[in-house]
Amino acid sequence: MIKSTLQLARANYRPILPATLTGNILIKEGAVSQSIAHQKEIQKIFPNTYGLPILNFEAGAKHLESPVMKVGVILSGGQAPGGHNVIAGLFDGLKAMNSNSQLYGFLGGPSGLVDGKYIELTSQLIDEYRNTGGFDIIGSGRTKLEEQSQFDKGLENCKKLGINAIVIIGGDDSNTNACVLAEYYKSINAGVQVIGCPKTIDGDLKNDMIETSFGFDTACKVFCELIGNIERDALSAKKYWHFIKLMGRSASHITLECVLQTRANYAIISEEVLEKRLTMNQIVEDIARVIKTRSDNKEDFGVCLIPEGLIEFVPEINKLIGEINDLLAEKATAFNALETDDEKFQFINSHISADSTKAFNSLPKEIQIQLLMDRDPHGNVQVSRIETEKLLIDMVADKLKEWKAEGKFKGKFTALANFFGYEGRCAAPSNFDANYTYSLGYVAALIIESGKTGYMSSVRNLTTPADKWIAGGVPITMMMNLEKRHGQMKPVIQKALVKLDGKPFQEFATHRAEWSIKTSYVFPGPIQYFGPSEVCDATTKTLQLEKG
Ligand code: FBP
Repeated sequence: MIKSTLQLARANYRPILPATLTGNILIKEGAVSQSIAHQKEIQKIFPNTYGLPILNFEAGAKHLESPVMKVGVILSGGQAPGGHNVIAGLFDGLKAMNSNSQLYGFLGGPSGLVDGKYIELTSQLIDEYRNTGGFDIIGSGRTKLEEQSQFDKGLENCKKLGINAIVIIGGDDSNTNACVLAEYYKSINAGVQVIGCPKTIDGDLKNDMIETSFGFDTACKVFCELIGNIERDALSAKKYWHFIKLMGRSASHITLECVLQTRANYAIISEEVLEKRLTMNQIVEDIARVIKTRSDNKEDFGVCLIPEGLIEFVPEINKLIGEINDLLAEKATAFNALETDDEKFQFINSHISADSTKAFNSLPKEIQIQLLMDRDPHGNVQVSRIETEKLLIDMVADKLKEWKAEGKFKGKFTALANFFGYEGRCAAPSNFDANYTYSLGYVAALIIESGKTGYMSSVRNLTTPADKWIAGGVPITMMMNLEKRHGQMKPVIQKALVKLDGKPFQEFATHRAEWSIKTSYVFPGPIQYFGPSEVCDATTKTLQLEKG
């Protein structure tokens, strides 16, 4: 592959490891852990991997010299900047402990493990991908590992290669898979450890021990650059309202980070919608109110940010989606046999509650169709394919038309729809993500060396310079609770939603009235790799505010 000039220069970047990992290392075991909820149930489901101690890697006297380790790595779920550096860090960590250790990459996500599709990751290949975006070194996929037959096939494939550990790089669902796999292999003494790494641009895999998931930093920076450019265009032309949907399947962390960085005129935070039990109509009226006030000030332009997952947080639609999910899980065969949209709508309407029927029929046909599309393998509605930004534009336009007829609105409303998601997922990692991911991979190698299983690689203290970061391992069961999936209660890692009493949201809440009316745009510009540290190494505002 031909490389761009920037790629060539960036290939020489040496990610910074926490200083504690650069010399002799001491592994300290902390207190035993407990799951965040449903402790008894989770312990019962994970008898072998529940209650493990938290691990800390500190500078120490012991020089780690391990036996040869053979490790398989899997990239799982949506792409996130830095995935290649996790693999590079893992590779370098394994080789640092024993130069004869080997790393294999399972191809195309978890299915690669089950189907025995793999490549050996050599140092030459890894060097091609250092500090690059994307997951293309081995590819990714969303196959859910949940059947014992899949685990057994995976084990067979590991045994063939002599693999003694698997690293799963993924989000909450994929790390849930990692934990289930770790438990099963431990229960049968398979001799294969399973370690997870926290990935997702959505930023919703976080807790006390995982301060952020990798990729969030870079993806937000890319989106903020684009939003800043659009703000400047809106300010120059003064004729468009831009409705921008931003990825984040469930939580609104990306939208919140973007509004904090760019001071867009309006941002919906799904978690607030849920908390205040706002209806679609109330959301629309509030946006229209801001458009009207700006118009009264002769500013018929603006930028409105919409989180991708919004639709699932509007109470009446959330109830509707829950009912549709249960129905599609129960009566999949009957539903899939239906051919036309009208037959499908009739089927849905005849099986859901009166309230949900009302909510369903209040939506335009395109959105109804989008709500019935296939769920992903984890049972989630594919919200990236639901055009909420267009729905909101139409609803706001109708509301303003109504107000115009009543003489309440005298301005113009011309809106453009944008969706930013895929633009940011494969960007070359920022310095922060390049360092963070490399460290996560390196730590995964250390956890493997320690003989542990069912852990997630953890690197903390992230608002300090990278050499001061703290490295360790967190039992995955510690992050679990029970949630309804495909109509059944299942153990899953709890998603971290935006906390309305948290500092990032509070910062937004303090300023939003001002930002909505008085144009206060900030233009963050593109990610910088070379230059002063305050430009190149800044963390997200979310992390800065959360960690003080
Ligand atoms: P992960 O949680 O797997 O990291 O994926 C996140 C995400 O980018 C969401 O923001 C988005 O809704 C979804 O993936 C899109 O999925 P797909 O890549 O299958 O289109």
